[in-house]
Amino acid sequence: LRLGVMASGSGSNFEAIAQAIADGQLHAKIPVLICNNRNAKALERAERWGIPSVLLDHRTFASREDLDRQIAETLKQHGVEWVIMAGWMRRVTQVLIDAFPDQMLNIHPSLLPSFPGIRAVEQALQSGVKISGCTVHYVHLEVDSGPIVMQAAVPILAEDTPATLQARIQVQEHRIFPPAIALAAAQKAGVDPTTFFSPLANH
Ligand code: GRF
Repeated sequence: LRLGVMASGSGSNFEAIAQAIADGQLHAKIPVLICNNRNAKALERAERWGIPSVLLDHRTFASREDLDRQIAETLKQHGVEWVIMAGWMRRVTQVLIDAFPDQMLNIHPSLLPSFPGIRAVEQALQSGVKISGCTVHYVHLEVDSGPIVMQAAVPILAEDTPATLQARIQVQEHRIFPPAIALAAAQKAGVDPTTFFSPLANH
């Protein structure tokens, strides 16, 4: 699997995927990381992993479509098959979705369809629900919509702050993202998920 990862921030999910590949669990390669923010820690992580990165600053494009056209072209140049949005903080347009039909995944820090959008962790906390979690799903035009591939749940504790809940959710994000990618790819190819994922491998 040739994965093109898109990240805007810390890139811990990007790194979890790179780690799963290095451990021999996820049978994939990341030919390129795309980042829209030159200060993102994701870029440093890419450098440490020896993964090529391309900075596409959204402020230098006239429209969302122009940015997405450049993203699609960059991904295609690197032979990317699956596009993995790992903390990509820009709305994507039909231009990018059409370039990778049914081959784009996103991760979101709630149990969708509850709490879409950028304040998912705070909203879950404020709502009083006792369980939240994370969702890996296909990317459709509407933000944080699209068929669900995998979810993991976490408890919400009385003493939680957005930061403590976020941290608990991220542990689960890092755990489920690699197998969710393998599962989606296997379903699309009509093969067994073990084709792309060996849960017990470690090196
Ligand atoms: C994650 O919580 C993800 O669910 C959301 O953005 C965050 C990215 O975190 N879409 P990181 O950059 O992978 O550390």
